[in-house]
Amino acid sequence: MARHKRVLILGGIGDSRKLTALASTIPGFQVINSLAGRTCQSIMTFKPTRVGGFGGVSGLKDYLREQKIDLLIDATHPFASQISCHAAIAASALNIPHLMLVRPGWKKLEGDHWLEVESNEVAATVLPELASRIFLSIGRQELASYTHLTDLWFLMRMIELPQPYTSVPPGKILTERGPFYLGEERSLLQKYEIGTVVSKNSGGDATYPKIVAARELSIPVVMIQRPSLPEGEQVSDIESAVSWLRNYSD
Ligand SMILES: NC(=O)c1ccc[n+]([C@@H]2O[C@H](COP(=O)([O-])OP(=O)(O)OC[C@H]3O[C@@H](n4cnc5c(N)ncnc54)[C@H](OP(=O)(O)O)[C@@H]3O)[C@@H](O)[C@H]2O)c1
Repeated sequence: MARHKRVLILGGIGDSRKLTALASTIPGFQVINSLAGRTCQSIMTFKPTRVGGFGGVSGLKDYLREQKIDLLIDATHPFASQISCHAAIAASALNIPHLMLVRPGWKKLEGDHWLEVESNEVAATVLPELASRIFLSIGRQELASYTHLTDLWFLMRMIELPQPYTSVPPGKILTERGPFYLGEERSLLQKYEIGTVVSKNSGGDATYPKIVAARELSIPVVMIQRPSLPEGEQVSDIESAVSWLRNYSD
């Protein structure tokens, strides 16, 4: 009898959880989920899940060899570009079929006032001209880009508090995990008299309501553009990733 094909799914977002759950129901495949472990409360309902970095490209190659991985799916966050590059390089070096699941970015619609910038550093340079009260909805990893803006006030939302001794811009921290809803996002922007929203163009539905609320309230959004992806096969939805996997069934 043919052995099960071993699939490594690099995850960290809701889509990767759904893909992992679906993929594990396909006969003939054995799925392993991998998380960076960015939050203490990483959602690890799927077993087996491994947590933490591999140790760069060479560590990932070692892992793929040791675990006899046959197929690699990169279903990480669109801004997690380092692991995506490592995955592409390691898979190519070991001749392992590799797929990227990349959810589409948000598109600017009528009524949106977006200023599209390439990084948090650039976002920080434009904020003083835009508003004094900012909704900084970028998570906790890149707050340092804004700490010098001591004349501004920031409402910062993240899943978990920043690590101890991290310097944080002036303002208030909210710890919450999405999905978020339009009515609450509208109230939040109004309650804190927000003049500008800063967001990564993460795509997906879970965090989009803040963009809709900003549109409704005519609040400008500084939208951080996605980093570029490595070359390779890509799909934009979970069903297509499952179909890709099925092509490798015996
Ligand atoms: N990673 C996530 O789960 C996640 C979720 C939501 C948002 N984001 C956003 O993405 C941006 C970059 O985040 P990041 O630093 O986590 O990503 P990254 O810059 O691509 O990754 C940094 C390192 O973390 C490890 N890593 C990342 N994802 C991994 C996975 N699924 N399994 C095992 N190791 C993994 C790798 O370490 P080694 O080199 O040691 O292998 C990688 O080189 C931030 O803006 C962040 O807010 C990330």
